[in-house]
Amino acid sequence: MYRRLIAPGALAAALMLAIPASAADFTPGASGIGDPYYPDYGNGGYDVSHYDLRLKYQPKTDVLEGTATILATSTQDLSRFNLDFGLKASEVLVNGKKARFATSGVEELEVTPPTGLPKGSSFTVVVRYSGKPSDVKLYGFTSPQRTPDGAVFANEPESAAWWFPSNDHPRDKATYDVSVAVPDGTQAISNGVLQSQTSKLGWTRFNWRSNKPQATYLATLAVGKFDITTDKTADGLPVVNAYSKDLGDNYGAARASVERTTEVAEWLETKFGKYPFNALGGYVPNVPSHFALETQTRPFYSPAQFANGANVSVIVHELAHQWYGDSVSVDGWKDIWINEGFARYSQWLWSEKEGEGTAQELADYVYAQHPADDAFWTVKPGDPGAENQFDIAVYDRGALAIQALRNAVGEKKFSEILKGWPQEHAYGNAKVGDFVQYAEKVSGKPLAGLFDTWLYQPSKPGTAAAQRDRVAHAGVAPAKPKSWKQIAATNSVHDH
Ligand code: TRP
Ligand code: ZN
Repeated sequence: MYRRLIAPGALAAALMLAIPASAADFTPGASGIGDPYYPDYGNGGYDVSHYDLRLKYQPKTDVLEGTATILATSTQDLSRFNLDFGLKASEVLVNGKKARFATSGVEELEVTPPTGLPKGSSFTVVVRYSGKPSDVKLYGFTSPQRTPDGAVFANEPESAAWWFPSNDHPRDKATYDVSVAVPDGTQAISNGVLQSQTSKLGWTRFNWRSNKPQATYLATLAVGKFDITTDKTADGLPVVNAYSKDLGDNYGAARASVERTTEVAEWLETKFGKYPFNALGGYVPNVPSHFALETQTRPFYSPAQFANGANVSVIVHELAHQWYGDSVSVDGWKDIWINEGFARYSQWLWSEKEGEGTAQELADYVYAQHPADDAFWTVKPGDPGAENQFDIAVYDRGALAIQALRNAVGEKKFSEILKGWPQEHAYGNAKVGDFVQYAEKVSGKPLAGLFDTWLYQPSKPGTAAAQRDRVAHAGVAPAKPKSWKQIAATNSVHDH
């Protein structure tokens, strides 16, 4: 991708006269990481290991300002590299020296260090910046949400560029220290462990740490007035939940749901193995949106998720993502099924455990609900396309694929696969094809045909395939499982 950025022949020749021959081979990092769904997202030429964000946010004015310190390693001889960022940088340093910087494209911050960075060198980037995130439009929209008492940064796939400069793609995960000062009486909620909290001259600073690799879209920041509950799990992990004081009639139901985080996570451990992170929790700010998001260690929940009373199913979904999506992340956004198929299936498992319908009954119901001419079946969960990345089919048809797997390999192998996968790729990235291979390895069965039927065919698998995989019992129309409504209430992201 970066080849088109190489200087044309004549200019390159001139450069070679001016600088040592080796430096002439230094080239700019690509402006995208190479994800065909989103060609601009992420960047090439380097790899980030850590973000240190030291910020200050004033709810009255929506001004966010501060310094990002980024630790990275070059993966090529780099003359220049990009960060993805939508706010205004005022100064950029590389290894302590002032770097030239310019903006290009929708969200590219091009940084040219005074000297090239040889492949394999670790380097430090400091970006000073400020801006009003809710004024910033990228790709035609504004990602963060303003609230009466603050703001919330939680979105997928686009979120980071509105609050910190980054290599904005899940393939480049890093650890985080997020330190945010807000006016006294207001809180700043982020990922991981609250290391400390200090107050000075009217400002309170919250220091959060996420010590395991985290994708940029899973970093979150919420500023507002919250009621905070804290606890420890049996394993000693800190639990921090936060509820806006402004949730009105949804307050009780929100709390009655999110306070069950520890219980749900411990149940999920029996299915997926040990919880992968250093903290747990959830937060419910006073936003108008309807969705929830698996922000690492501390999922985001919209109050609307609790409009009909407590909904534990959405807690199950977002916590399941901590294994499926957060610890094991997509390699490219086309791999979204390894997140959403399993998070949806975990809701089916919870339903099964609660006696509100087995996963098989839910599968029967989903299969029967969509006639062959329903557009639902044209979406391929294994490669849905950017416009259908969060289509309901990725979730529901995606979960059908998992039920088909369960029936094909049997309970014992199935549970081995569900538990083994988060270990196999812990804190890394994986593709749909990696899962297929892993399931074949563990079960000792060829499964390519089954996954092709359920993840890649743009049509409803016929009765023969459905019977082969026992995903649906042909004939009788299945009854609607008791859990259906609560599970469907977690779908609101698809309704927009
Ligand atoms: N991953 C989210 C979930 O599991 C759904 C989602 C898709 C989302 N796109 C989003 C959430 C954009 C917030 C914003 O429920
Ligand atoms: Zn999800």
